[in-house]
Amino acid sequence: MKPPTPFWIRVPATTANLGPGFDAFGLALNLYNYISVEPGHPAVPDPFFADVVDAYHKARKIPKKPYRVLVRGNVPRSRGLGSSATVRLGILASLDMVYRRKPDLAWLIKTAAALEGHPDNITAAAMGGFVVCAGMNPARTRISPRLTFVAAIPKLELATRTARSVLPSKVFLQDAVANLRNASRITAAFFTGKYEEAAGAFSDRLHQPYRAALLPGLEETIQSAEKAGAIGAFLSGAGPTIMAICMKREALIGAAMAKALRKAGHRSIEVRHLRADNEGMKALCSIPAKL
Ligand code: HSE
Repeated sequence: MKPPTPFWIRVPATTANLGPGFDAFGLALNLYNYISVEPGHPAVPDPFFADVVDAYHKARKIPKKPYRVLVRGNVPRSRGLGSSATVRLGILASLDMVYRRKPDLAWLIKTAAALEGHPDNITAAAMGGFVVCAGMNPARTRISPRLTFVAAIPKLELATRTARSVLPSKVFLQDAVANLRNASRITAAFFTGKYEEAAGAFSDRLHQPYRAALLPGLEETIQSAEKAGAIGAFLSGAGPTIMAICMKREALIGAAMAKALRKAGHRSIEVRHLRADNEGMKALCSIPAKL
């Protein structure tokens, strides 16, 4: 079966958790992957793509077929920027186009989040903006272009599975309460657009302290960003990218973060200045010539 026209699904990168909102907060960024599927045999079937295709056929109750999956774009893999979410959503949405299904964002989020194991990156990538995940009823708000997201990306791949394996299965009540307070402050600030009021609320006690063992310099880099003027900084998703949110001194903040990471022994660090994406996943007829 042929899709209506040549098409690509553009899916934004995301930052998740934002410190205290572990597995609950996601925010889409203006960095994109473009995904397309064509019925046909891939030269070498990719097990990651195959899992998504299998899940699609099972959920839609359509007999299984092979596809060639094309992924283009700029979202780095295994860096805490939601690359796997872009591919999962992109394949599912592409298959819906191949089978001429009506777009159903809630179904796509549910199916992709089940594959991912947590909904934060998926929900933000699908809807754009800032989201607070809550089953089938995420809360969402647009994010102003006044905010810059400075991503310090160390040259180090960190599998989410590994970064989750170091987390405890139980947490202390006072740590949960501290996170609850901070997460509520961030939500209030983002939903009212009073971003400065989130300053001091990005600290976390549920996952970052454990993940710091996997990423030398995490604490120091967060502190350097906040000292240089960021509203807040945190581990992006499961890492290793460290993200700072700011409205001024972006260049200084990026330089301070790179310096702190270098001091902790990281040799190669890419610093990117990003903005929020408020559109979420969308279908396009072509991809930009220059990616
Ligand atoms: N909330 C997830 C985690 C995001 O921190 O493990 C993974 O990108």
